[in-house]
Amino acid sequence: MLNVTLVEIVRSNFDDVIRLELDEDQEKHLPSNIFSIAESTLSPLFNPRAICLDDKVVGFLMYQFGERGDFDEDECTIWRFMVDRAHQGNRIGTTAMGLLLTEIKAHGLCTLIDIYYDPKNLAARKLYRNFGFIETGIRDDGDVIAELRF
Ligand SMILES: CC(C)(COP(=O)(O)OP(=O)(O)OC[C@H]1O[C@@H](n2cnc3c(N)ncnc32)[C@H](O)[C@@H]1OP(=O)(O)O)[C@@H](O)C(=O)NCCC(=O)NCCS
Repeated sequence: MLNVTLVEIVRSNFDDVIRLELDEDQEKHLPSNIFSIAESTLSPLFNPRAICLDDKVVGFLMYQFGERGDFDEDECTIWRFMVDRAHQGNRIGTTAMGLLLTEIKAHGLCTLIDIYYDPKNLAARKLYRNFGFIETGIRDDGDVIAELRF
């Protein structure tokens, strides 16, 4: 069993998170982690997390609950999900997604989780499907919309 944990971004892991790398052809799938961490300061509804394997930072993710009073207030969107290129294919993404869904559900704030991805992104597509995300549409930018209701 992998010792994977989701950890808040703090001064001591910030450098490691922004140094994580993707393969060149994967970089189009999400903005840089430093951009995402900057974006996360704009609203307390953003939740950025380091994905750690033992004590080492190996990935990054960010999710956001809907604004209270908005049409999507019972939704949570997973905006970012990445594993460093050197650690991909070792089930860290799968383990981290399991922890993430448990964490989101534990807040008790939403009944629907959504996620968007390039339909050609086979690893992401497989990973989300494995957790029961159902593809429900296509966004204007061509990304697939997938949803998990619980
Ligand atoms: C998507 C990503 C997070 C998966 O992380 P990972 O730790 O490599 O994933 P896992 O090892 O847990 O594998 C997850 C599933 O994807 C499959 N998979 C992994 N790499 C794959 C690839 N290159 N092509 C097809 N399937 C792949 C695995 O077989 C596994 O499915 P299975 O359990 O049915 O066998 C990782 O590839 C990544 O960071 N990609 C770049 C960033 C990105 O695209 N993020 C998503 C943006 S929406």
